[in-house]
Amino acid sequence: MAVASRADTARVFARVLLPTLAKGVILRRPGVVAAAEKLRLDGSAVRTVRRMRERYGPEPLRLRVTGRSFALLLDPADVQRLLDQSPEPFALATKEKRAALGHFQPHGVLASRGAARERRREFNEQALRPDRRCVDVVRDEVDLLVRHAASTGVLDWDSFAQAWWRAVRRIVLGDAARQDQALTDDLAKLRAAANWAYLRPRREALRRDVERRLARHLERNADALAPPEMVGQVPHWLFAFDAAGIATMRALAVGGSDRWAVLESVRLWPTTPVILRESTIATRWHGSWLPEGTTFVVFTPYFHRDATRLPFADRFAPEVWREGTTDPALVPFSGGPGVCPGRDLVLETAGEALAVLRSQLEFGPPLREPLPPTLNHFGLRFPVHRSG
Ligand code: HEM
Repeated sequence: MAVASRADTARVFARVLLPTLAKGVILRRPGVVAAAEKLRLDGSAVRTVRRMRERYGPEPLRLRVTGRSFALLLDPADVQRLLDQSPEPFALATKEKRAALGHFQPHGVLASRGAARERRREFNEQALRPDRRCVDVVRDEVDLLVRHAASTGVLDWDSFAQAWWRAVRRIVLGDAARQDQALTDDLAKLRAAANWAYLRPRREALRRDVERRLARHLERNADALAPPEMVGQVPHWLFAFDAAGIATMRALAVGGSDRWAVLESVRLWPTTPVILRESTIATRWHGSWLPEGTTFVVFTPYFHRDATRLPFADRFAPEVWREGTTDPALVPFSGGPGVCPGRDLVLETAGEALAVLRSQLEFGPPLREPLPPTLNHFGLRFPVHRSG
């Protein structure tokens, strides 16, 4: 199996993994995201991975890290295998994920293994099925946002995020939680610490307090998405709806107006740019063995923007999703048994937000193609006026 030289291992860390970590995996850091856009860091990351594939071939590339086994995937068929064979023998709950998620959701399905994982996964799949109510809540809150934007002449990230979080609190915790911004702000503090995984001590007292306040909403509100005993799954939902808001604003920037545009937004700018798995047994790849405990790394921007494979790599191409893509490495929501169980809920809610905004407001021209490798959502600001 190909093993990267020390210099190439350093390149992969410096240009691919560290910039991704620096942007904030769990809670985005506005300053770093803005710098990443300016320096086109995702472009450099994609080029670095492409160079590795040219230099070492399509097999998983072992990185030289003392005391750990790391493999960078470079081939679409291998990505498909890794995701199809999750969570056994390729576990979702890797060391890094457990360390990060432990700060705010130690009982979440993504941090779980074995029978607990199975139970929690099944619950997530059932609880996250979209229904009429979610769509109505989004329409309600986005209608208010439209009025605000039409009166100021601008739709920017801050005003969008406020409306989005009101909708998210209502969907997840019930209508009565609409104004409880203090709760999602406290969750954001835990997420900020989670960016540091094992490098920051856990704020257990704050975590328990947040969990108690979440449980209180679930107890009182019959329209919440989970019963109080499943409160351990809820922090992930609130955290992940942040990505759905980011994807919606980016879809607006490229002219999108429906759920296909949401998928295309996360193809172009994946909100989970690194998918990790950890093998529970030794596994065989292209004739060679990788030991148990190997961490597999899928850097999705490389596969999603690979101009050598995809003629539409750097343009807005929602038709690829509408017509049903068969590319196994376009995985913004992951794939296989560990696929995002919130995917349909995201497509329904974010798709509705886009449809309402597009039908009621006129926007300027979309971003010019080829589309940039990094798009700082914090800086998005659209001049708008009412349609008709
Ligand atoms: C743009 C929005 C979103 C994207 C792109 C996205 C993408 C993903 C991806 C790539 C994974 C796999 C992570 C991994 O393997 O480590 C995942 C897992 C998950 N997502 Fe999402 N997600 C989004 C929003 C949501 C929302 C809103 C919810 C819930 C309301 C949600 C619930 C989950 C859960 C529970 C898991 C863990 C699944 C498991 O461990 O089996 N996601 N998501």
